[in-house]
Amino acid sequence: MAHSTRTASLTIDGKTYELPIHSPTAGPDVIDITKLYAQAGVFTHDPGFTSTSACDSQITFIDGDKGELMHRGYPIDQLAEKSHYLEVCYLLLYGELPSAAELEKFETTITRHTMIHEQMHNFFRGFRRDAHPMATMVGVVGAMSAFYHDSTDTNDAHQREIASHRLIAKMPTIAAMAYKYSIGQPFVYPRNDLDYASNFLRMCFAVPAEDYVVDPILARAMDRIFTLHADHEQNASTSTVRLASSSGANPFACIAAGIACLWGPAHGGANQACLEMLKEIGSVDRIPEFIARAKDKNDPFRLMGFGHRVYKNFDPRATVMKKSADEVLDLLGVENNPLLQIAKELERIAVQDDYFIEKKLFPNVDFYSGIILEAMGFPTAMFTPIFAVSRTVGWISQWKEQLADPAMKIGRPRQLYMGETLRDYVEIENR
Ligand code: ACO
Repeated sequence: MAHSTRTASLTIDGKTYELPIHSPTAGPDVIDITKLYAQAGVFTHDPGFTSTSACDSQITFIDGDKGELMHRGYPIDQLAEKSHYLEVCYLLLYGELPSAAELEKFETTITRHTMIHEQMHNFFRGFRRDAHPMATMVGVVGAMSAFYHDSTDTNDAHQREIASHRLIAKMPTIAAMAYKYSIGQPFVYPRNDLDYASNFLRMCFAVPAEDYVVDPILARAMDRIFTLHADHEQNASTSTVRLASSSGANPFACIAAGIACLWGPAHGGANQACLEMLKEIGSVDRIPEFIARAKDKNDPFRLMGFGHRVYKNFDPRATVMKKSADEVLDLLGVENNPLLQIAKELERIAVQDDYFIEKKLFPNVDFYSGIILEAMGFPTAMFTPIFAVSRTVGWISQWKEQLADPAMKIGRPRQLYMGETLRDYVEIENR
């Protein structure tokens, strides 16, 4: 952490406290309140952590106002254009772009870890036949700690490394198996001669009776979806992983916690919710009705795929994703698909509407990723599992960083207690 001699003064009841200010390499300064309770006997209050930094990190930087996203200093649009997912995984995990030899070794390692323990197949079969793939993934990833005992010791650097490789390598296999199980098709084993994205597409769409030949444009689009979702600094699921890990929990349990958090419609579930919303809208002429509902304070309805906690100008991932959507739709010749027509019209109206302009609500990455995945043939239930596959490397990189941080403490927020104060127990007959 870059320490400075600057301080912020806080005066409470006439007494002044000096709080150190830390300057990051990029982004706003941070007021250090770690000693505040000890010195002044007060807590700070920040539900949703909108103004609170919880850790030092060197992995990802976002400037929400400028619409910037960088991994280890490299802008996301350059990575999406010039790099590919496994190279970005290496960058996130180890801090630098790999040499050709390092990349080859890393890709080989990941490829060789894609199969899962054969006994895990039985574990899958315990789920209800139509279980949501996210439900299966939360369970199966958590259960990895029961199958891979030799990589659960977080104090052992070698075990941490193996757990990282296993999670990145096996997550597509697990997501594809969760999908196959949910539609009653046999599991498809990974193939080592395919790249990460092609292998995933094949595991999802091949059947024993007929192989699936991966189109390079679709493989590239899949790889881009993985790349664009790889990490996003201290978002809800990543913070969940860090919080779970702060107690010393094993990596598989921590990533299962991240998957559970990602599932919510305000986070990773937004791409599924967005496509479902497009289906509910049903036709272009009903759009005004839904826009009116989104603006109505008394209606809980929100336009899914619009808005972001951090990006208040545009989502830089959405710009790349939009381009990718055009390529895929062009290839598949589905530009007349009614859902896509609704999506395009919704985007056109919303970005001109005063409510959305004033509140800085723009289409986010999930607005376009859902459209691409739908065109590729994925059902909406697979959208969030695909996000989970992509984000695994981000979770793992942040988890590794936290474990190496000497300042790491168990995460334990305080509260503003507004409940009853002390009162005596009332016997049941007197209530
Ligand atoms: N549609 C309509 N109004 C909205 C929307 C929306 N999608 N998003 C925010 N608003 C309004 C809110 O009602 C609020 O209005 P108010 O100031 O009059 O009360 C204002 O904009 C600010 O909204 P907050 O909820 O305070 O903003 P926050 O930063 O907490 O929420 C969030 C961000 C959760 C992403 C929100 O915009 C949302 O629910 N969007 C839809 C879900 C979605 O697409 N999530 C994907 C996020 S991207 C990702 O996870 C990869």
